[in-house]
Amino acid sequence: MSDSLDQATQDRLVEAAKRAATRAYAPYSKFQVGAALLLSDGQIVEGANIENASYPAGICAERSAAAIAINQGRRDFIAIAVIGPPVEPITPCGICRQFLSEFNKNMPVLCCGRDGRVQATTLAALLPGAFDQEQLEQAG
Ligand code: THU
Repeated sequence: MSDSLDQATQDRLVEAAKRAATRAYAPYSKFQVGAALLLSDGQIVEGANIENASYPAGICAERSAAAIAINQGRRDFIAIAVIGPPVEPITPCGICRQFLSEFNKNMPVLCCGRDGRVQATTLAALLPGAFDQEQLEQAG
């Protein structure tokens, strides 16, 4: 279990990520991913990967979930869970790490495997030295 999430919340997040994965549109990779974002009031926003015949136009599950939350007026991201098809836990891709770090650099990330294993880490651990607004502002 991660430091800051109780077991019930963690279980809810993992279940939500699994449910989200069933909605993935991944006809090209066949790699269905689900993500579940926890907000500060306990609400969970689910997202799945959405692929496209123009491959780079696809979006990952994590950014999909984040885009939904942001468009609901929510940026108070507390934690995220992600699950793919493998038995072993999967980790968010580099673009998703950067994307999420905009909103909470330190959020717990629950990397889930189909065997029920949950590897808890943080965004800061997955993406040390993220590019951020402060660096933009240094341009003067
Ligand atoms: N994918 C995600 O949705 N999240 C990840 O963390 C890793 C990769 C998706 C992108 C693409 O649709 C498929 O998985 C294979 O890369």
